[in-house]
Amino acid sequence: MTEYEHHDYDVLIIGAGGAGLRAAIEAKQRGLRVGIVTKSLLGKAHTVMAEGGMAAAMGNVYPEDNWQVHFRDTMRGGKMLNNYRMAELHAKEAPDRVYELEQWGALFDRTKDGKILQRDFGGHRYARLAHVGDRTGLELIRTLQQKVVSMGTDVFMECKVLRLVHDSAGRIAGAVAYWRPTGEFVTFRAKAVILATGGVGKSWKFTSNSWESTGDGHAMALWAGAELIDMECIQFHPTGMVWPLSVRGLLVTEGVRGDGGVLKNSNGERFMFNYVADMFRAETAESEEEADKWYADHSAGRRPPDLLPRDEVARAINNEVKSGRGTPHGGVYLDIGSRRSAEYIRRRLPSMYHQFMELAGVDITREMMEIGPTCHYIMGGVKVDADTAATRVEGLYAAGEVAGGMHGANRLGGNSLSDLVVFGRRAGTAAADYIEGGGGPVDFATGEVDAAIAEALAPFTREGGESPYDIQRDLQEMMQANVGIIRNGAELEDALVQLDGTFTERVANVTVTGGRAYNPGWNLATDLPSMITVSKTVTRGAIGREESRGGHTREDFPKASAEFGTFNLAHRVSGGTYEGEFSVARSPLLTMPDELKALLEEAK
Ligand code: FUM
Repeated sequence: MTEYEHHDYDVLIIGAGGAGLRAAIEAKQRGLRVGIVTKSLLGKAHTVMAEGGMAAAMGNVYPEDNWQVHFRDTMRGGKMLNNYRMAELHAKEAPDRVYELEQWGALFDRTKDGKILQRDFGGHRYARLAHVGDRTGLELIRTLQQKVVSMGTDVFMECKVLRLVHDSAGRIAGAVAYWRPTGEFVTFRAKAVILATGGVGKSWKFTSNSWESTGDGHAMALWAGAELIDMECIQFHPTGMVWPLSVRGLLVTEGVRGDGGVLKNSNGERFMFNYVADMFRAETAESEEEADKWYADHSAGRRPPDLLPRDEVARAINNEVKSGRGTPHGGVYLDIGSRRSAEYIRRRLPSMYHQFMELAGVDITREMMEIGPTCHYIMGGVKVDADTAATRVEGLYAAGEVAGGMHGANRLGGNSLSDLVVFGRRAGTAAADYIEGGGGPVDFATGEVDAAIAEALAPFTREGGESPYDIQRDLQEMMQANVGIIRNGAELEDALVQLDGTFTERVANVTVTGGRAYNPGWNLATDLPSMITVSKTVTRGAIGREESRGGHTREDFPKASAEFGTFNLAHRVSGGTYEGEFSVARSPLLTMPDELKALLEEAK
């Protein structure tokens, strides 16, 4: 093997969002050598797009709230496809993670008597989201980053990991990466690797995700021998900006609706009353009067339909637009300006106020916003053990959005920030336990390093291939059209033919020009294998799940099926590449203990 810059760690963490940083703190506290690699900059992660808050049953606003209710809400929101144990641990541990962040310097908004204030979000029975205005994710990252840096952790920024590397016994032994500023390669040898790479949204045309979210961790885990589950379950957040086109998809926090905003169609009708599914009917207000009473005193009575879980709201908006009741730019209206004072809006939602004023010239204290669904989050991800975040590949752990199971078929808003810190911490603990127990690789498969580098450099020497930008644009358009919010068998089959056929060939033939230093075209070319791998698993999952559930809606199978509610779809690939044989199999859900089942029964 050629000699490259090389680093040795006990724990290598790939990704510097909330999960990666929280995992790093835990491993550091155990006295281990920890390296964090991020292809972006420290402080810039999709974590900041969880704006409205972090869900934790602290009971500060409603003393009746507790982990049991949070567990129930999470399972119902996930349409029961969740790994129950993850949902249980999350509900139990989230409050401690909030208090810990506060101790480390996070400045949460307060109640009048000085407790951490909690706000309403969709699908949560009680006001439950600890928040910092509408910038909660940013505060979480800022706090964790300060802690990580103060502990003396090594952070490799603008360093893109290409592949995980095994040892000769099949354990994870590290990773190979390159520096974006120079294009030089670097290898990391580690006893354990934690994936915390976030999501996959950049494979769709309209997304709240920024350029980093290309599914690198999902793909690398699959190529390395791990399984992906629930990949068909994609969350289209109901409220993204639809205009101007240049910012289409940018997130409009659910906090707008939590704080009193309502959805209206072009006839001025509050249409969400027409879309209350049976399972939510008993707890949802039936009239504007009843909903507005709730908004006025935030009593724990029946909640407005605008605060149903995200999958329900996104489908309703989609239907209004399709039925010709949309706005001029193809969304619906979100109105808070006529319902709350300008002072309240600017105080509670400062980023939204600025975002619309600066980007769209819309004053949300007086005018309605135009919004529509945007690809925001993937519920699916690497199959992990709930308690340890361990994958089926020894030495490999995954936490945060890259891990699957916690949110089932649909995530409740606010459950992401708490997921990051609950399972980031658990991954750090488990990796440390593994290492202290003598775990780790025996050697480092240098052949895998050479192969990964050859693959990464190939676009420079290929002739007659295609620009990565053209492939990316066509992939995004195809995934948006064929594997979007409402799916059907014919379009999905067409997508799969394209993915396995022309898209695979086009990615294999991608060509780039210029040098390796700060070459965005090359950087994108190295993302495409991940993007197509993710797209193939999402599409296969969507074909295989012949029902509608959460973030997976099939117009040809419009109802949830009892049979399909008993398993996840688990993906593997042979050959460790996007060109390999993909397979998908049914993987039975864990059996829930009776005492947890009883919690769900009681709540019916
Ligand atoms: O709407 C939001 O503020 C997003 C939160 C989340 O995805 O958890």
